[in-house]
Amino acid sequence: MSKTPVTVLGLGSMGSALAGAFLDAGHPTTVWNRTASKADPLVARGANRAATAGDAVRASPVTIACLTTYEDTRAALEQASLTGRALVTLNSGSPAGARRMAGWARERGARYLDGAIKNVPSAVGAPDTLRVLGGDTVHLGEDTDLAALYEMAVGGTLLPALVGFFQGAAALRSRGLEAGTLLPYATKWFELIISLLPMYAKEIDSGDYSDPAASVGIFHAGAAADLELAEEGVDVGWQRPMHDLVRRAAEAGHGDRGIAVLTELLSVGAAGSSTTTTRP
Ligand SMILES: NC(=O)c1ccc[n+]([C@@H]2O[C@H](COP(=O)([O-])OP(=O)(O)OC[C@H]3O[C@@H](n4cnc5c(N)ncnc54)[C@H](OP(=O)(O)O)[C@@H]3O)[C@@H](O)[C@H]2O)c1
Repeated sequence: MSKTPVTVLGLGSMGSALAGAFLDAGHPTTVWNRTASKADPLVARGANRAATAGDAVRASPVTIACLTTYEDTRAALEQASLTGRALVTLNSGSPAGARRMAGWARERGARYLDGAIKNVPSAVGAPDTLRVLGGDTVHLGEDTDLAALYEMAVGGTLLPALVGFFQGAAALRSRGLEAGTLLPYATKWFELIISLLPMYAKEIDSGDYSDPAASVGIFHAGAAADLELAEEGVDVGWQRPMHDLVRRAAEAGHGDRGIAVLTELLSVGAAGSSTTTTRP
């Protein structure tokens, strides 16, 4: 059976991997990149090189764009005719960015799908064509910005978690100990955190924080000790905004409630949110 021809725009680390996956799966694959030389390895594997982004879009019914941002994608496609084409973006970006991109693409007559690449729910749409990108491909729904929303909802854990690990490594280094010695304990710690998430999700969804495994008060009491790690020669300043959030929760009377009540402070009633006040 002949496979759907696919175009991939943007051949950075991710775009090259995507194009490679389509080639491996036997899709006729057209590629374009602003810096043309990045297409060379894919052309050597059988991809067709397009001279312009417009030529690339014309070559296939489906175009996958994996440039750095939505703005970059629009800039690259400014001169391209998108009428009747399916355009899928797989860059990172905000829900608002996804909505702007969708409006832009639809004004130009494209069928548009916003996707995100993550280790958790990803929306890369039309299953038969995009399944080659990985076994964990999920269509999240009709709202254009859902992939970006889930991507950011998941991604918010990355930097705090990593900085916490790096802080631990810095503390060990101050005693001449290697980061590798932290791994057995850090790994178990991350596993423990993962095991707690269903409980926290239940508390958040029910609004009932009255039976805490760990209360706001406990975290509040621990803040001073957290900062004393500075005495080991570690910059702990990055923790202050998190401590401030915990302090505000304690001052708002949540001291005896579960730490997931912080979600209520973080919900400030943005578009689509129904939570504008803390629950009783
Ligand atoms: N790499 C990952 O592990 C990963 C994981 C998940 C999601 N993502 C997301 O995937 C997207 C691409 O990431 P990447 O790692 O592939 O980045 P990358 O290696 O830095 O590649 C960026 C690509 O965007 C192109 N580009 C940027 N601005 C452009 C413009 N104004 N006009 C035309 N082309 C432009 C670059 O073209 P040139 O080659 O000409 O510079 C290059 O092809 C990002 O949104 C990233 O957050 C990446």
